[in-house]
Amino acid sequence: MNSESVCCKNILIVHGPNLNLLGMREPEIYGSSTLLDINRNLDKLAGDAGITLDFFQSNAESALIERIQHAMSDGTNFIIINPAAYTHTSIALRDALAATRLPFIEVHLSNIYARESFRQRSYFSDIAIGIISGLGIKGYELALEYAMASLRSKIEL
Ligand code: DQA
Repeated sequence: MNSESVCCKNILIVHGPNLNLLGMREPEIYGSSTLLDINRNLDKLAGDAGITLDFFQSNAESALIERIQHAMSDGTNFIIINPAAYTHTSIALRDALAATRLPFIEVHLSNIYARESFRQRSYFSDIAIGIISGLGIKGYELALEYAMASLRSKIEL
């Protein structure tokens, strides 16, 4: 395998609670794209670059934690996560991400700092590589672009 190859680099995309309702959920805040639209778009961008994506959405904190723990042993190299409402409440999800020691980007469709005060605290931002908030679905694309560039620069096979 040459050093330009991106074979076997995997990115896990995690969507938290209520993001399964995108498209019909408060479209004035979250836009009109569905979760399937978002995932398909990311899959295409990654596929063109030869990177494999794995998608996971759950409304349950325990399921999200278990999926993130699994990332420690399933070949995941990078995580992009929108923890949704768990952003503001879940130390357990934060601990799971920290345990993996995997780099991750925190994404929010809306600008959480321009909304209610309870949304302005994140349990994730200080341990994330970066945070993208308020750019709608473009935020996921930018996070993916960064993750792919980062994996490309690290590969030494
Ligand atoms: C969100 C912002 C959160 O405050 C909210 O609970 C969500 C979605 C966003 O993508 O803008 O469910 O993470």
